[in-house]
Amino acid sequence: VYREVEEASLAAWPGLRQVSLDGWLLRASEGYTRRANSVQALSASSPAVADILVQRVAECERWYASERLRCAFRITPFSEAGLEDCLEARGYGQEGKSHVMMRPLAEPDRAPEPEVLELGSWLADYARLSQLPTPPRVLEPLVRSIPVERVTACVRDRAGRVVSVGMGVLDGPAFGLFDLVTDPGARSRGHGRRLISGLLAWARIRGAARAYLQVLESNDDARRLYVRLGFRRAYDYWYRVRPEPTPA
Ligand SMILES: CC(C)(COP(=O)(O)OP(=O)(O)OC[C@H]1O[C@@H](n2cnc3c(N)ncnc32)[C@H](O)[C@@H]1OP(=O)(O)O)[C@@H](O)C(=O)NCCC(=O)NCCS
Repeated sequence: VYREVEEASLAAWPGLRQVSLDGWLLRASEGYTRRANSVQALSASSPAVADILVQRVAECERWYASERLRCAFRITPFSEAGLEDCLEARGYGQEGKSHVMMRPLAEPDRAPEPEVLELGSWLADYARLSQLPTPPRVLEPLVRSIPVERVTACVRDRAGRVVSVGMGVLDGPAFGLFDLVTDPGARSRGHGRRLISGLLAWARIRGAARAYLQVLESNDDARRLYVRLGFRRAYDYWYRVRPEPTPA
């Protein structure tokens, strides 16, 4: 089940540019989100020998250099064996430790479905609530390139202002939650909980069996909320990032 969720999460958040290298997936999206700008090195049935691994890593480094991005690898329990040791030996740093959290969606629920926003207004609200001057340039093409059903939803306060937004992506039995954010001035009032409950109701009606999300280990507030909503830590991942060349 974890591997299925891992594969669903990769499909749910594609890269703008994507090439495959012996089963690894190299993604580039102008640097927006680590996920969409890193190598997903899912292990194959037979592990690569050390020399091949080094060659493949060097090839990834060349590709990211040509994309003018730093070379990064997402490390999960499903990554190619020996990869992390190889990166460690090349001086790669570690960052972005995160948890994949999951919950089953079997039991019935009376939560109402959330209000759905069309993508244009959802992007504008996402930017405003995230305190960004404009939506990140690549967010719209990234969301549009999601190959499965998605829902861009919101919650309003009593005055009718959008105070919380999030996106759900349904891939067979797996339902992923992304881009959850509540107005900093309206947090801890239950808007996030209402949004997530609504998104889960949306997914249940469409036959999802489980929900997952990805959260930084350092994001205590969000993790606490997810635990209250029935999510549990399933597995961890982090990034290995190539050291910047020291200026001459
Ligand atoms: C994570 C986030 C979306 C939660 O949104 P939120 O609207 O504050 O969520 P809620 O209000 O439903 O829940 C937050 C807390 O408020 C509490 N709360 C809910 N209703 C409440 C009320 N009426 N009065 C007081 N507290 C309340 C909840 O119990 C919860 O407490 P807990 O964290 O101790 O369990 C928000 O913190 C956020 O936008 N963070 C920045 C972006 C981010 O990190 N996104 C998640 C990435 S994975």
